[in-house]
Amino acid sequence: MSSFEYPGEYYEVIRKDFRDLAAETEFLASYLPPGGRVLDIGSGTGSNLRALAALGHPGTGLDQSEAFTAYAITAADPGSAATAYVHTRAEEFTTDDRFDLVYSLFSTLNQLSRAELRQLLTTVLGWLAPGGHVVIDIGHLLNFVDGYQPNIIAHHQGDDLLVTRLARQSVHAHRAVWRNEETIIARDGEGRVSMYANFFDQTVFTAPEVRDLLVDAGFEVVAEYGGFRKEPGPRIGRGPLLFVARAAADAQEAAA
Ligand SMILES: C[S@@+](CC[C@H](N)C(=O)[O-])C[C@H]1O[C@@H](n2cnc3c(N)ncnc32)[C@H](O)[C@@H]1O
Repeated sequence: MSSFEYPGEYYEVIRKDFRDLAAETEFLASYLPPGGRVLDIGSGTGSNLRALAALGHPGTGLDQSEAFTAYAITAADPGSAATAYVHTRAEEFTTDDRFDLVYSLFSTLNQLSRAELRQLLTTVLGWLAPGGHVVIDIGHLLNFVDGYQPNIIAHHQGDDLLVTRLARQSVHAHRAVWRNEETIIARDGEGRVSMYANFFDQTVFTAPEVRDLLVDAGFEVVAEYGGFRKEPGPRIGRGPLLFVARAAADAQEAAA
């Protein structure tokens, strides 16, 4: 079974303990013209797309998780801008649409191999509308090293719901891959308990490697941040890493 196949409402409870959705929304919206279209690669339960749709940004989300895609479709607000959710692996997605912003958050792209990411970035360049941007929030080597915990037990409290993560991490040093094996245990208000297995490997990129992959794919990196409040990138490379890029051809045109 592929990973992230458990009820979306449990993921949403876990997500809010890790992420600042308001900061993410403000950050993403700052790269969008009014009504600008977005594409979310690995849209999960649709948290970011729902927030952007509420601001009037229509878009598309794609995700390999059937459970999360189903949740995102049900949770969409019919009063907001239209959002389509597609159940697919990013590497297999095709579209004739063009987007003002293509983004991928919460280390989703770490779930691709180096070769897959290289190919995907080239494809993404072709999905950008003129003047469009790409935002990548990616885990890099020092994040993985700093965050390494072989065993984690974490409780995440929702409304009338307790979600417990039992996580085991291990490192495949020769392939620079971080292996995550999670057991998700949910207890609802009536005392019902359910349990799910979640397994995923993450490629450990270095920051210069991601920069090079973007440039090789035809992008110009316009900014690097250490967080969604546009904090400066951490001086010695630790902490979260956000890349903002645009087509190198756009940069040349702007300079001409
Ligand atoms: C950590 S979650 C992040 C979800 C969402 N971006 C967020 O911020 O909540 C990673 C997501 O990436 C999806 N994913 C992993 N590999 C993928 C791939 N190759 N193509 C599409 N989705 C993928 C998983 O199904 C999962 O929903």
